[in-house]
Amino acid sequence: MLATAAIKQSGRRSMVQVRAMHDLTFRNKTGQPMIKQGLGGRSTTNGHIATVFGCTGFLGRYVVAKLAKQGTQVVVANRDPDEARPLKVTGDLGQIIPLEFDLRNEEQIRECVRHSDIVINCIGRDYETKNFTYDDVHVKGSRALAEIAADAGVSRFIQVSALNASEDSPSKFLQTKAKGEKAVKEVFPEATIVRPAIMWGHEDRFLNRIANTSGDSFQFWVNNSQTKILPVSVVDVAHAIEVMFGAESTAGKTYELYGDRAYTFEQVFDLAREISMKPLPTYNIPTGVAKLIASGIEKLPYNHTISADLIERMRLDEQPSGDAHTFKDLYIEPTSLEADAIHYLRRFRSNAVFDLPYEKGEGIVKKGVYHVID
Ligand SMILES: NC(=O)c1ccc[n+]([C@@H]2O[C@H](COP(=O)([O-])OP(=O)(O)OC[C@H]3O[C@@H](n4cnc5c(N)ncnc54)[C@H](OP(=O)(O)O)[C@@H]3O)[C@@H](O)[C@H]2O)c1
Repeated sequence: MLATAAIKQSGRRSMVQVRAMHDLTFRNKTGQPMIKQGLGGRSTTNGHIATVFGCTGFLGRYVVAKLAKQGTQVVVANRDPDEARPLKVTGDLGQIIPLEFDLRNEEQIRECVRHSDIVINCIGRDYETKNFTYDDVHVKGSRALAEIAADAGVSRFIQVSALNASEDSPSKFLQTKAKGEKAVKEVFPEATIVRPAIMWGHEDRFLNRIANTSGDSFQFWVNNSQTKILPVSVVDVAHAIEVMFGAESTAGKTYELYGDRAYTFEQVFDLAREISMKPLPTYNIPTGVAKLIASGIEKLPYNHTISADLIERMRLDEQPSGDAHTFKDLYIEPTSLEADAIHYLRRFRSNAVFDLPYEKGEGIVKKGVYHVID
């Protein structure tokens, strides 16, 4: 049966909406009806309402944009309206609904999820603060969101954790991520768990950190930059969440999302040197010394760059568990870092070489002399 019919009226074309059975779906838990309107896409509504917690973060912004683009109404739960305001333009008029909340305020969380049929939790913190420990954010916070969502009749819950999350990890961040997954599963057994590897993108804390060095200053790194990582594009992770959103079969499963190949930090530095056409010198310091310095710096107010736990994570190889689903199960081909990195690293080039093309393996940086490719 046709959902729409184009009718010619007095020489003018107008679209007449005809509703069909497949435009009507029911929420799993409560049976509440959701009605699709329009042909699909940004200016129509697909009947779904999603709440994204952590929407102002790196991944959250991409998730909101992906959902809004397919006609989902998105409640962007935030702590600062100024941070959430730019998200308004990712959807059509009235499609992005900012709501303020506090992770410890049950009533506000309930308000954020009241009308939604899916909740996505992208909240996470790389460092502890005076107000929120890792445990508060990753375990207690996640449990509260999942518990309230379950209570409100939300049918799907997607919890963003991290690759390497394990209760036995030497990193407190990764321990609490694993405990958070467990806490969510206890109260929302059909929750989907997403464990991304280190992510790259325009606003990342990975390539930006590596390439953001002026010619004569050093980057301090640990483990001789030999830690193995599996970098993944933030766009691919957001796309995977978008696919999970539409596929009920992903409920209750765990997905580990990582890139197409492993790199050591040294290899990523080499790639960044080649693309940014800068020497980017690194200096290795013993882990113990780095942790000592970091634990001093992390006590300073307004420090959002380093913590002793982050140093610990910089030594841990990213390792998929082997028993989780991957991009392959979502029919997504992960983007290659080598092919994509030029988009994010070109801005670190000097004016003189900014426009030069990049061809992998041509050896742009050789013994400090720039070899220009024609
Ligand atoms: N980035 C990576 O490479 C990477 C790798 C693996 C896993 N992950 C995980 O993926 C998720 C998204 O990462 P991301 O890079 O987008 O993180 P991000 O940029 O640090 O954003 C974190 C988000 O969580 C919110 N948040 C933090 N503490 C909060 C609190 N106490 N109460 C309420 N909201 C709070 C932040 O809100 P404000 O803006 O208000 O602070 C922000 O929206 C996180 O769970 C992260 O641990 C990230």
